[in-house]
Order: sequence, then structure tokens, then C-alpha cells
Amino acid sequence: MELPFPEENAQIDRWLAQPPDHVIEAVKNHSGDYLILGVGGKMGTSLALMLEEAIRRSGRTATVTGVSRFSRPEVRAALEEQGVKALACDLADPADVAKLPATANIFFLAGQKFGTTGAPEVTWVQNTIVPGIVARHFTSGRLVVFSTGCVYPFAATDGPGCDEATPLACQGEYASSCVGRERVFTHYAKLHDVPVCLYRLNYACELRYGVLVDIATRVRAGEPIDLATGHVNLIWQTDAVAHAIRCLEIAATPPAPINITGPTKLAVRDIAEKFATILGTTANFTGEPAGTAWLSDAGRSHSLWGVPPHDLDWMIDAVARHVAAGAPLLGKPTHFETRDGKF
Ligand SMILES: NC(=O)c1ccc[n+]([C@@H]2O[C@H](COP(=O)([O-])OP(=O)(O)OC[C@H]3O[C@@H](n4cnc5c(N)ncnc54)[C@H](OP(=O)(O)O)[C@@H]3O)[C@@H](O)[C@H]2O)c1
Repeated sequence: MELPFPEENAQIDRWLAQPPDHVIEAVKNHSGDYLILGVGGKMGTSLALMLEEAIRRSGRTATVTGVSRFSRPEVRAALEEQGVKALACDLADPADVAKLPATANIFFLAGQKFGTTGAPEVTWVQNTIVPGIVARHFTSGRLVVFSTGCVYPFAATDGPGCDEATPLACQGEYASSCVGRERVFTHYAKLHDVPVCLYRLNYACELRYGVLVDIATRVRAGEPIDLATGHVNLIWQTDAVAHAIRCLEIAATPPAPINITGPTKLAVRDIAEKFATILGTTANFTGEPAGTAWLSDAGRSHSLWGVPPHDLDWMIDAVARHVAAGAPLLGKPTHFETRDGKF
């Protein structure tokens, strides 16, 4: 199958991080440097490289620093190659965090989801104690704190999904710890009068990981797709990162929550069948779709910054071509089908 998209990791990273014009315009009006805490994961490189490129094209001078333990050393090398400053730091260590520079624009991406069932105490430390250490240190600047749509209760699959006014729920240990992360940042934001945006994301997708890669690889392997979670919200990683940068503008005290995802809820069955058509195979299914799922209404972010431009058919085509070509994958399944909150 023809592959119109980049195939090598470094090219994919740069391609995903192309800033849209509205982000370049926004960055023109920022002041100060940028710090990305937890840059070493699935989204950090896209965010760091988009900021670098937007700064360059805006004509501004500013530094982007990425902070992580860098348990994947290749991430550090890739960032430094593109001009991002890398600082190794364990955010769970207050002495390490004390050395981090006060910065005008801070993104908090660190957290833990997988492994919660085996070691829930580590998830609680990562998702509530680390935020406490970080929030006590950064008493100036403004923060975009990455959160998740899993802080909401399940919503009916025939409704619009939860909006920012929906009261939070604690569904399972991981989701509960994410509610904890928001509460800890909220407490210190009020205490120190620091503006914070709570960025509630439902499933970023790109060529190498995400719900679409999970479904495409199963369809291609002839494995059944579990329909228990019958509907999902998705957003292309480029659009998710663009909206994260715009979230700096709405950081407030007390913190401003915002839902970040695509405009429609998508049926998992339909997605799998589209992949099967493109890949020239048949999709197999188990289970029955439940009447509820973690679904968010991101209308507010769309009214502020536009509907994410990469639509479902474009995303499916891109991921299908990548998977069919045997191009690199991250090998990090999302477990989107999980309904009991155990990850
Ligand atoms: N990706 C999605 O679709 C999605 C969906 C919903 C919510 N989110 C939220 O968005 C955030 C970012 O997403 P992501 O997919 O990039 O997450 P991720 O892959 O888990 O990346 C987070 C990174 O933070 C770093 N980190 C964790 N603990 C740390 C510590 N104690 N000190 C320093 N660095 C630490 C880790 O890199 P090192 O091992 O190098 O330190 C980790 O890879 C997540 O926290 C999650 O809450 C993401």
C-alpha cells in the first residue's frame, strides 16, 4: 500500500508537530519560556517540537525545556537534536524538583495509568503526590495540567457526552487518582494564586499508538474487537497538542477545566469495519456495546479554537496505511475497551 506519510520516527515526530497558523499567532503573544514536565511519554515530543517550530515561525525568542526521567533515552536524543533543552529529573523527588527553573508557561504531562492494578500505590504517588510536589514548587507562571475524560462518569452513548459542568466521578482506582491530581492542583492554584487549565483529554491518536492503532492491528491480525466499550471520542495528536498550547490562554484561578477531543462520538464497530475495508479483510467482534461509555462534549474548546481539522476518515486512512506498511509502532496499547476502571 502506498505510504504518503513519513515512515521514520524522527520524520513522524516533526510531521505531527507542524503548528497550525492559529498556534503561531498565539505564540507571538506569549511571553517567557516553556517547561514541559513529563516530556518523555507519547505526547511530550509532539508538544515540545510544535512549540519550537511555532516560536521559530513567530519570530519570538524563547526556550523550550523538556523534563523527564528519560527512561527512553532515545527521546532525549530526539528532543536535543531538534533544539529542545532536556533536563533529567524525577518529579517524585522534591530535592530534584527544587532545582527546576521558575518558568512562565508550564505543561504538566507526567502521570501513570498502566500497572495500576498490580501496584495501585505507585499510581497514587504519581498522580497525586507528584502534583503536590510540583504545585508547591511552581508558585508563579501559568500551568496547563494534562488530565483525562476519565474524571467524568460514564455518559449515555446516545447523548452529547459530559461537558465541563458535569460533576466528577471516581470510577475505578486510576480515574479516582486522576480526580485527585485535579484536586491537588486546584488546591495549590488557589493557595498561590497561580492560573491553571485542567486539560481533560479523550484519546489522542497518531500513526504509532492510540485507539485507532489498537483497532487496526487487531483487524489486520484477524483478532476479535471487544465491543463492550462501543463508542469513543478521538482526536489527532497534532490537534490535541495545538489545543494544549492554546489552553495557556484560558488558565485561571480557580483552575479552568476544558474538554479536548474530536467533534463526534464514534462507534468502535464502524471504525473496525472501515479498517477492514481498507485492509482488505473482515473485522471480527466479541461482546455487545454498552449503553454508556467515557464520552466528552468538547464543544467549548471547538468554539474557542475551531473543530479539530483531522477528521475520522482521514485518521483511519493514515493509520491503516501506516499499519499495512509495517511501519514503526510504539507497542503501547490503550486498553480503551476497559470498562471497570482497572488498568
Ligand atoms: N495519550 C492519551 O491519549 C491521553 C489520554 C487521556 C489523558 N492523557 C493524559 O495526558 C498525559 C500525557 O499523555 P502521554 O500519553 O504522553 O502520557 P505518558 O506516555 O504516560 O507520558 C508521561 C511521561 O511522564 C514521565 N514521567 C512520569 N512520571 C515521572 C516522574 N516521576 N518524573 C519525571 N517524569 C515522569 C514519563 O517519562 P519518563 O519515564 O521518561 O520519566 C512518562 O512517559 C498523561 O499523564 C495522561 O494523564 C493522555
